[in-house]
Amino acid sequence: MSEEMLLPRPVRDSQSEMTEIVLPNDANPLGALLGGRLMHWIDLAGAMAAHRHSRSHVVTASVDHIDFLVPVRVGDLVILRSSVNRVFKTSMETGVKVFVENYIADTAQHVASAYLTFVAIDAQGNHLKVPAVIPESEDQQRRYDDAGRRREIRRGELERRRKAKR
Ligand SMILES: CC(C)(COP(=O)(O)OP(=O)(O)OC[C@H]1O[C@@H](n2cnc3c(N)ncnc32)[C@H](O)[C@@H]1OP(=O)(O)O)[C@@H](O)C(=O)NCCC(=O)NCCS
Repeated sequence: MSEEMLLPRPVRDSQSEMTEIVLPNDANPLGALLGGRLMHWIDLAGAMAAHRHSRSHVVTASVDHIDFLVPVRVGDLVILRSSVNRVFKTSMETGVKVFVENYIADTAQHVASAYLTFVAIDAQGNHLKVPAVIPESEDQQRRYDDAGRRREIRRGELERRRKAKR
């Protein structure tokens, strides 16, 4: 990868927004959005931010714990906002925040937040170094700092599971 491609980039370069309208095929027989469908959209929204930041192919290495805070119904709009929180070496953490909007009732609610780690790869699957990310606002700095702490927790958990397998 050229030196120019590895120059640090601001968080705003990766900020992405994806909107879906919930259709019957996305829902259970009671008309509520399936958790698995929302997880799929979260993965896509996170990947968009990771692609925009790294300008490369990426694979999902992990998805942290997700809570579903409010139900989403057929006909609602689901808005997913994502950006890169922090880059490590070949991996980066993206945050995805999900909202539901009901345009009849004129309401908007927070549905879920998720943190995903993506690894940048080339067409042969080799891992690629990712340019650093520059936080520019207080919120971005807070997410950057928190992402460092979350990485340590993930690494500790991976190590614990590896040891348990031996
Ligand atoms: C994720 C994957 C690329 C990691 O490759 P690996 O050779 O085992 O990992 P390495 O130990 O060399 O680590 C590479 C990077 O991934 C990170 N990583 C690896 N496993 C991770 C996990 N479970 N969670 C978060 N980050 C992880 C490492 O911290 C490292 O990051 P760094 O370079 O920024 O320090 C590999 O396991 C893989 O290809 N998995 C399948 C991915 C996939 O298909 N996803 C779609 C869902 S099916």
